[in-house]
Amino acid sequence: MNLVFRQIRAEGGCNSFILGDRASGTACLIDPRADHQETYEAYLAEQKLKATLVIDTHTHADHYSGSHLVAENFGARIAMGSSTQSARADIRLVDGQELEIGGELALRALATPGHTPDSVSLVLEGAWGRAAFTGDTLFIGGSGRTDFPGADASAQYDSIHSRLGALGDATWVLPAHD
Ligand SMILES: [Fe+2]
Repeated sequence: MNLVFRQIRAEGGCNSFILGDRASGTACLIDPRADHQETYEAYLAEQKLKATLVIDTHTHADHYSGSHLVAENFGARIAMGSSTQSARADIRLVDGQELEIGGELALRALATPGHTPDSVSLVLEGAWGRAAFTGDTLFIGGSGRTDFPGADASAQYDSIHSRLGALGDATWVLPAHD
């Protein structure tokens, strides 16, 4: 496998990620914003990749998700945590669910509620090591707020300490904000 990885940082510190498999020509977008579609499309075209999957790590309160635009433009399926109230989700992720992007590229969903009830983290593993796309559950040196309706600070604590903590210190942390 030839892994393609790209972090796209928007104003306000929002991160979107593109993961691709060069061998199969397929890609996954994580937390795309509605107002950055052209950036994603240009990068995918440059890398000769087609988005087959788009994942929102949670229901975003701070920006408009562009997942439906990726779905419309590429025919990608939309995945979100199983408790999402969004009608857009084609795939409702349960804890431990494997998501095949194409070729040998796959992600594993970890249910990490707290910031929102539908928060999921996504684990990527390879010969190079392990990375976790942690959404707003875990930042670098902080965590997502838990004062919105539906948020649960106790669940957030357990998600960080028990779920993400179990991944080990060598894990790359790739948060939805920096
Ligand atoms: Fe958030």
